Amino acid sequence: HLSGFTERNGVWYAEEIPLTNLAKEFGTPLYVYSKKALKEAYEAYDRACIDAKGKRRARVHYAMKANSNLAVIDCFKNLGAGFDLVSGGELARALAIGAEPSSLVFAGVGKSAAEITQALKAGVKCINVESIAELHKINRVAKGLNCRAPISLRVNPDVDAQTHPYISTGLKGNKFGIAYYEVLKTYREAVQLSQIDIVGIDCHIGSQITTTEPYLDALDKVLDLVEQLKKEGIIIHHLDLGGGLGIAYGAETPPDITEFTNALLDRIDERGFAHLDVILEPGRSLVGNAGVLLTQVEYLKPGTEKNFCIVDAAMTELLRPALYEAHHGIVPIEKKSAKSVIYDVVGPVCESGDWLGRDRALAVEEGDVLAILSAGAYGFVMASNYNTRPMPAEILVDGKNAYVVRERQKLVDLFAHEKVPTK
Ligand code: LLP
Repeated sequence: HLSGFTERNGVWYAEEIPLTNLAKEFGTPLYVYSKKALKEAYEAYDRACIDAKGKRRARVHYAMKANSNLAVIDCFKNLGAGFDLVSGGELARALAIGAEPSSLVFAGVGKSAAEITQALKAGVKCINVESIAELHKINRVAKGLNCRAPISLRVNPDVDAQTHPYISTGLKGNKFGIAYYEVLKTYREAVQLSQIDIVGIDCHIGSQITTTEPYLDALDKVLDLVEQLKKEGIIIHHLDLGGGLGIAYGAETPPDITEFTNALLDRIDERGFAHLDVILEPGRSLVGNAGVLLTQVEYLKPGTEKNFCIVDAAMTELLRPALYEAHHGIVPIEKKSAKSVIYDVVGPVCESGDWLGRDRALAVEEGDVLAILSAGAYGFVMASNYNTRPMPAEILVDGKNAYVVRERQKLVDLFAHEKVPTK
């Protein structure tokens, strides 16, 4: 499942480059992405959106929160992707690579007036509204700008995506979207607002979802709303089903992309909504397995309870294990003769929650480099400067070439914007 990364005779490669070469040249911790893997993942998704007769049934808007490096989003833009955004910062990134504003949808529960202004001025395709208060704020901002605001209401369908509670978003106890029972009422309200154009409806039920059923449940509930709205003369043009399709970090078996999209798109057709434009917002499933994080072993620290393998990456580079107890495969990038020992792989940060892998059998010595697998999604983007640690570098590999797509942060840059007050 790591298509751009392969092991040949005990040596791990990113496409045509041994990972050891990258660690030597650019240092660790180091994020490495494979362009081939990004491309393959996108093309598989895009193919799954086109039927046997060549008719497009859905469009991919990459959720750039998963990995927003300019090189990554530029690659997807060139393949034809639109984008799903959640902040003014992400909008600025999209515009920086020359993405078409009409290919952008803007979600998020707490959009500020400044972000709404930015989105309306840019001319995004749609703002996905997550509360009644936000709808009114958008109307006010649009009035001030003397423009119209294309909107969709994000429905909270109250379905259980059966994923980690922190990444489940479609339950009524979650902060996301407009409560199911309030959606019709809110559309009726939207019709009355002077600057609002209703263009769509959307939902997103969570992330790292490994079965199709919760999607079909949410879809049916959303289509019920579209049906009712039509009866009332409120016409919906597009249906955005969000992202959330899981990947295999270990033993998970997420549905095949074509089977997944066919199940959803067929249901839409069967229920008589083939005329709707369908948007999908995958993030993780496009980038997760297209990246690894390289980290060097600093110390081996045997103990009575636990053996620790202390590495130079930490929760500051990859937060997922600390935050969700997420599992990532960890492998030495070159096989050594060392004897395999069970270690907890931990970072240098001053927190007991700072771990990257638990109870892993590893044959390693001090100075060896490990690859933390499936780190392309929600890796670098969730990195922080805690403990005044610099942000790692990011490399994009394309065949035999490696490009630095983000330089390692320099120590002086860590406090370059701070000031000691002077009298
Ligand atoms: N659309 C919306 C409105 C979203 O909120 C998200 C993700 C996506 C699309 C993309 O979902 P994906 O296909 O990547 O599952 N940091 C967590 C994941 C948070 C997901 C947030 N929303 C993690 O590391 O697992």
